[in-house]
Amino acid sequence: MAESSTPAKFELLATKTVQEQLTEVEILVPQNYILKDGIPLPDPSVEFMDVPVIDLGLLTPYSEGVEELDKLRSALITGCCFHVINHGMTAEFLDEVREIIKQFFAIPVEEKQKYLREVNDFEGYGNDMVLSEQQTLDWTDRLYLTVYPPDQRKLKFWPENPISFRDTLDQFTSRLQVITETILMSMARSLNLEEDCFMDKYGEQRKMEARFNLYPPCSRPDCVLGFKPHSDSSIITIVLQDKEVEGLQFLKDDRWFRAPIVPEALLINVGDQVEIMTNGLFKSPVHKVVINGEKERISLAVFCFPDSGTEIKPFDCLINESRPRLYKKIKNYGDIFFEYYQQGRRPIEAAIM
Ligand code: OGA
Ligand code: NI
Repeated sequence: MAESSTPAKFELLATKTVQEQLTEVEILVPQNYILKDGIPLPDPSVEFMDVPVIDLGLLTPYSEGVEELDKLRSALITGCCFHVINHGMTAEFLDEVREIIKQFFAIPVEEKQKYLREVNDFEGYGNDMVLSEQQTLDWTDRLYLTVYPPDQRKLKFWPENPISFRDTLDQFTSRLQVITETILMSMARSLNLEEDCFMDKYGEQRKMEARFNLYPPCSRPDCVLGFKPHSDSSIITIVLQDKEVEGLQFLKDDRWFRAPIVPEALLINVGDQVEIMTNGLFKSPVHKVVINGEKERISLAVFCFPDSGTEIKPFDCLINESRPRLYKKIKNYGDIFFEYYQQGRRPIEAAIM
C-alpha cells in the first residue's frame, strides 16, 4: 500500500478553554482574597486627585494664614484629603520611618511571629481577623500598635529589630501630637468655631494607634485590594505614604481618584467622628488601597481617637433649619468599625438619625 504523502494529523492534547485557564491563574491567588460581592474591581485608568498642600507653618495660632484656612475648609467640605508640609519633620527623618517599616517586614517570618497578634485582638503583627467564611481578605500584612498614651503601649508587640524601631516610632508619634493639635485647632478656626472644640473631644484621654501596612505585589492586581473601600473611624488619620509606589485612592463625587505622592508631606484625612461632630459639613472620605503587580508598597497610618467613653455628637451650632441634625450621639465608635467594614458597610450608618 502506498504511503500517504500527508501524515495523519493527530490532535496532541485537548486544550482547555480560555475560561478554564483563567480560573487556574486565579487559583494562584487564594480564593478568599479575590474580590466578590459587588466590591468594584480596581480600575487602572483612574486620574490623580487634586490634593491641596497646606503649609503648617502658616497655621500656628499667631499667624494669619487665612488662605491656608480656606484651603483646609474647602478640602474638608468637599470630602478631600490634604497634604501638610513644613510640619517640623525633615525629609530624612520621614525616610528613616519608611526604612524601619521596610526593615521590620523584611525580617524572617519566624522572628516576626514573636509579635503575632492574639485571637480576637487587633494589636500586634499579622493579618485581618476572619469573622465569616465569606469575608474577602485584604492583600496586606500589618503591625498594629497603640502608641499613645505611653502607659497603654504593649511593648511585647513593639519590634526590637530593626534596633531603632521603637525609638523612631516614639519620636515620630510625639511629633504627631503637636501636628494633630495644630490641625484640630485650625479646623475649628476655619469654621469660626471655638478654637478648642475638636481638641476638647479629642481630650486628655486621647488615643493614638499606628498601623504599619505592607502591601506585597500580586500577580492579579486586577482582582484583589490591599484595603477594601472604607472611611476611617478616627477623628483624624495621618498617613505616611511609600515614596515610590502609589496605591491609595479616594472616592470623591462618586469617582475614584489616585492620591499623589508628595515624599516630604504627610497625608491627612478626617475620620467619621469629625463628620459626626460637624453634622456632615466636613466629610470623612471613603478610600481604598490598590495593589501593584510588581512592587511592594509600605505605609504607616496613625489614627487619633477620643477616649472610648467620650460622647461624640454634632455641635449644636452646626445644627439649624437648613442643616438639620444628621447624626445621633455615639460612644465607643471604634468598636463597631471592624464588623461593619467586613460587611462592606460604613459604620457611620449606625449613627444616622
Ligand atoms: C488605613 C488606610 C492607607 C494606606 O490604614 O486606614 O486607609 O495607604 N491606609 O495604607
Ligand atoms: Ni483608611
